[in-house]
Amino acid sequence: MAKAFAPGKCILFGEHAVVFGHPAVAVAIDQGVTASVTESSDWTLEGKRFEPSRHPHIEHIIHNVFQYEGPPLKIDIESNLFSAAGMGSSAALSNALAAALHLHINPDSKLDQVKLAKMAHSAEAFAQKGRASPTDSSTSALGGCVVVSGDRVPGTIHVFDTSLTTPEGNREWAVNTISIPSSMNDAFLVIGFSGDTSPTGKMVAKVANLISNNPEMISEMESISKITTAGLTALSVGNLDGLGLAMDACHERLRNLEVSTPKLDRMVEAARPHSLGSKLTGAGGGGCMVSLTNDPSRVAEAIEISGGTPLITRLGTEGVRAL
Ligand code: MEV
Repeated sequence: MAKAFAPGKCILFGEHAVVFGHPAVAVAIDQGVTASVTESSDWTLEGKRFEPSRHPHIEHIIHNVFQYEGPPLKIDIESNLFSAAGMGSSAALSNALAAALHLHINPDSKLDQVKLAKMAHSAEAFAQKGRASPTDSSTSALGGCVVVSGDRVPGTIHVFDTSLTTPEGNREWAVNTISIPSSMNDAFLVIGFSGDTSPTGKMVAKVANLISNNPEMISEMESISKITTAGLTALSVGNLDGLGLAMDACHERLRNLEVSTPKLDRMVEAARPHSLGSKLTGAGGGGCMVSLTNDPSRVAEAIEISGGTPLITRLGTEGVRAL
């Protein structure tokens, strides 16, 4: 049996704006998806008959990317991420499955994280009707802290470039990384799930419509871009207070883009007294918020009292790996 794990991600800055070419900063988290594949007499997923139309990421990876024509596979997936909630569960699934399938076909070879990031991005684009940045897929594949942007970002390490034809035109991104300073080791993220799922493709299309009907709203994207740059500078020098302030500011801009919800706002407010910064994370419309804090159990409690489900993680864990 071939088995692999890929982490989920948490976007600290730049969700939605990154689809328009602005920078985004995301970190890999402790939680993620484990995929295993083994030969079998029938195609199964989690013990049931595999139905390709219900699992576009899996179908895309197996048949379009790998063009697999071998014997049927028994596929098993375990996840401790909330799905359709802004934690990159579909990108982690694509990475873990592509890694497991690669190891199944080439048992003695190593995993190529860049190749996996590109495969997972194509699966995201396939499932999100052509609108997907490489943020989720590359953070899950490379691990650590990833900076995705339309242009190269000074002070980061450039890893690869990628492009995609979206309904709004051709987009190009540079995928970069930065190392997280050791002074950040005492900081945690507490991610709070609102209980409401929200498909990314739907939220990305909603923002695209908002911008096309109100072209002046593009200035919100530009503000997010400036906040992202300030947040990235704070992160790269281990300035936790600055990082938190930028997260708070980013939440206000995302509210202006109409991707927050009253419940996410309540959870953000509840977490703030014990946090350095709090914001929604991911596509919004439900899904999750995140707080940066030195006191994760207090924040987790505050999130729970405000009706959310908390999950504590370190910032920037290792990327996709064989198990
Ligand atoms: C989703 O986690 C992040 C978005 O920016 C979409 C994307 O980058 O593809 C909303």
